[in-house]
Amino acid sequence: MRRHLVVTGASGGIGSALARALRAAHPDARMSLLDVSPAPSRALAERLGGEALALGCDLSSTDEAAAALGRARDAFGPVTGLVNCAGVMEVVAFERLPWERAEALLLLDLVSPLRLMHEAVPDMLAEGGGFVVNVASMAGKVTLPGCAFYGAAKAGLAMASEIARRELRSRGVRVVTVYPGAVASPLEARAKAQYGGGWLTKVIPTGDPDALAARVVDAIRRDAPRVVYPAAYAVGWLAAAGPLALRFGPRPR
Ligand SMILES: NC(=O)c1ccc[n+]([C@@H]2O[C@H](COP(=O)([O-])OP(=O)(O)OC[C@H]3O[C@@H](n4cnc5c(N)ncnc54)[C@H](OP(=O)(O)O)[C@@H]3O)[C@@H](O)[C@H]2O)c1
Repeated sequence: MRRHLVVTGASGGIGSALARALRAAHPDARMSLLDVSPAPSRALAERLGGEALALGCDLSSTDEAAAALGRARDAFGPVTGLVNCAGVMEVVAFERLPWERAEALLLLDLVSPLRLMHEAVPDMLAEGGGFVVNVASMAGKVTLPGCAFYGAAKAGLAMASEIARRELRSRGVRVVTVYPGAVASPLEARAKAQYGGGWLTKVIPTGDPDALAARVVDAIRRDAPRVVYPAAYAVGWLAAAGPLALRFGPRPR
């Protein structure tokens, strides 16, 4: 089977690290990189070497998402690996996020990843196997003030991802759900600024994108169900974490 790996958000902090780690693990794979502005991913595609293609598309349109996957397929054949990493985070009080931005966030962070998975999984089943990585967030696990829409999108993506894993595993498709806490990136820097840079945002553990990417590639190899990184965020699985975050978590400005 000739691998064709599709990575969304490949120009971002975590997405570019994932693309590099996947290239190192699969030197012969064909790689399609999907971002809203393709210039940085075009440069990344060149650095990755081998067969790699950058495709510009606005993933807050599910039709554009499906069309971009079609273009990737036309170039490189059936999709055998999908990484849903593109996303935006908004830290703002519920009623103050303009509806257009809230809706675009839900489409980008939740609906398009599901659409891409829906398009790509039949390819994987026909090819005899494959993998899907869904980059969710600990913000979908813990009730963080200011993250109503982002948390809803990431909780929804994580739930769909965990269920899809159960359904697809026996048919050779590995689904890995990723729950990052804070990981250094432009998105993370902006979120901390939106929280006003208080003491909590300065002391919380902040991970490295390459270390996260290494864990994800290892999880695909081992068929592990999920990655929580940095490890300290596993505390988010405790029942008390949600109420504590609501009571003591940072407030959006
Ligand atoms: N960093 C963290 O602390 C953290 C924590 C939890 C979860 N996550 C999740 O990890 C993923 C990657 O985040 P990151 O930290 O690497 O952020 P980032 O550096 O800001 O990267 C975001 C990526 O998403 C792409 N993107 C944004 N809007 C898009 C659109 N409308 N259509 C297509 N692509 C779009 C960006 O493309 P352009 O560069 O072309 O705009 C960029 O490649 C996100 O899903 C995020 O929610 C991050």
